[in-house]
Amino acid sequence: MCGIIGYIGHRESATTIIKGLKDLEYRGYDSAGIAVLNGKMQVYKKAGKVNALASAVHNETINSHIGIGHTRWATHGVPNDINAHPQLSMSGKLAIVHNGIIENYYSLKQHLSSKGYTFQSETDTEVLINLIEDIQVSTACTLSEAVRSALLQVDGAYAILIISEDYPKTLIAARRGSPIAVGIGEGEYFIVSDPHVIATYTEQVCYLQDDEMVTIQDGEITLQNMHTGPVTLHIENLSLGRYVVGKGDYDHFMLKEIFEQPHAIATCMRGRLDVSKTIINLPSIEQYASQVIHASKITIIACGTSLLAGMVAKYIFEELCRIPVQVEYASEFRYRNPIIKRDDIILAISQSGETADTLAAMQLAQEQGVLVLGICNVISSSLARATQAGIYTHAGPEIGVASTKAFTTQLTVLVLLALYIAKNRNTIPETTFKNLVQALAEIPTQIKAVLQSTENLQEIALAFHEATNVLYLGRGANYPVALEGALKLKELSYIHAEGYPAGEMKHGPIALIDNNMPVVCIATQGKHYQKMLTNIQEVKARKGKVIAIVTAGDQQVRSLADYIIEVPATQEAFVPLLAVLPLQLLAYHIALAKGCDVDQPRNLAKSVTVE
Ligand code: AGP
Repeated sequence: MCGIIGYIGHRESATTIIKGLKDLEYRGYDSAGIAVLNGKMQVYKKAGKVNALASAVHNETINSHIGIGHTRWATHGVPNDINAHPQLSMSGKLAIVHNGIIENYYSLKQHLSSKGYTFQSETDTEVLINLIEDIQVSTACTLSEAVRSALLQVDGAYAILIISEDYPKTLIAARRGSPIAVGIGEGEYFIVSDPHVIATYTEQVCYLQDDEMVTIQDGEITLQNMHTGPVTLHIENLSLGRYVVGKGDYDHFMLKEIFEQPHAIATCMRGRLDVSKTIINLPSIEQYASQVIHASKITIIACGTSLLAGMVAKYIFEELCRIPVQVEYASEFRYRNPIIKRDDIILAISQSGETADTLAAMQLAQEQGVLVLGICNVISSSLARATQAGIYTHAGPEIGVASTKAFTTQLTVLVLLALYIAKNRNTIPETTFKNLVQALAEIPTQIKAVLQSTENLQEIALAFHEATNVLYLGRGANYPVALEGALKLKELSYIHAEGYPAGEMKHGPIALIDNNMPVVCIATQGKHYQKMLTNIQEVKARKGKVIAIVTAGDQQVRSLADYIIEVPATQEAFVPLLAVLPLQLLAYHIALAKGCDVDQPRNLAKSVTVE
């Protein structure tokens, strides 16, 4: 997903913007560029990494205090220097950076071509900046008016920044469907896709809403809704300061975030899990307590790893709360005509709170008048603002593209919610509830123990990093964990991996088993243990290599499997919180062994804000 950053103020703009682009790299990209004003427009843009751009700019004499920058994740047009942003208007006087998709760009391009406009790139963004120029030239209006008028003709999603040679002290931004935060400093302004980028400069931030446009001109900031006119600036405090946003002592953000999980989960539970009183406090949804407790059905909508957290939760909600749960891919749900009853509730799960499919699916549900609660990590994200209420995961910024602490904190929130509902519905005995609360309180310590006892993972990773296919098997709530382990391996090491319910082996996948097929089996103690033992024997009988996740002290699986990774014993409902950890690390080490880019895997973005 693209990243955008604009700056106007007393600092040197090129350096400031390039530093911001480095902080946006985690979003995934394939080219980068900046445009700065210093009497005239100066544009530097290249396919490849921000460092290559920084080297190109380093030798230039630039003395500018206004500019825009972009990391591009290609949608329209291949990743090359020409298609990189910023895109310039035909005159070269206007520059734009854009995160999103202009869906009616082709008809707009035809209209502009008929008026003599020519285009250098294959991008939809170049069409937009020429539309703005055409309006400005043909109606002699101001830049701000031209931007507004052009955007009213646009279908699709955008977060844009614009500068112009004719307006050397003006920076304009607008959004629909893609996030924009405006950082307000002392005599300076930052406009970014992701507020954590500006946390070191200012904590004063304003989040643009859809169809809002901000104009910073001669040091003054004005905000308007493009349909209804002026809007009062709503400034919030950016509470990111307490998180170490850099990699710290870790080689990669992903590894840092894996090892942050004990702290992240403890933070997620703080104030919500009261062991001494054996109660669950969820004040952020209290006003909807009755609807939540008496829900006839829970539908979970999400994408990727967030969906898999929802799949684990299905088992927990149905077991503890006796409420039917349906888990839906948001990208499918949004285009169906789903049957939603008024006393259903919807849980929308998203780390970023900006995933286009999840936002659209949520909107579809809200249009049918049903309660939608958000489970999200990014404060004030689009999802957080669009849902009637929700529960933040408080995981801290997750920079690695592969979700790790997002998954376990989402799962923690879902477990807290399940316990909250079960307690109020009296669907579990008080003693069971008490045991669950006490076991949940132990999870951060147990996670820390697992993370400190996985030295054999590097050996396993080396043994299997050349595999071309891997199978992950689990049963019950460990089946979605198998899916998550497979997803981690796929997205980090580009090895084809498939998660499967172990009970399905005989219905096809067992044909895949031979001595080249590593099979990861989650065989922890619980009601599925004996069945998993049988599955492991079936794999071994066909010369498959078995990597087994087991409960500490297990001897039976140890006698069968090729490799064993132990996790502590806990309540069966909480095993996924522990079993996923070795799978995160296994994928990390295999990707390293293959020389893959762990924090920015190819083709992936941290948050998919376009369809
Ligand atoms: C998982 O490791 C990926 N990063 C991806 O599947 C991700 O979970 C998905 O895109 C959903 O993102 P969200 O949680 O921000 O909505």
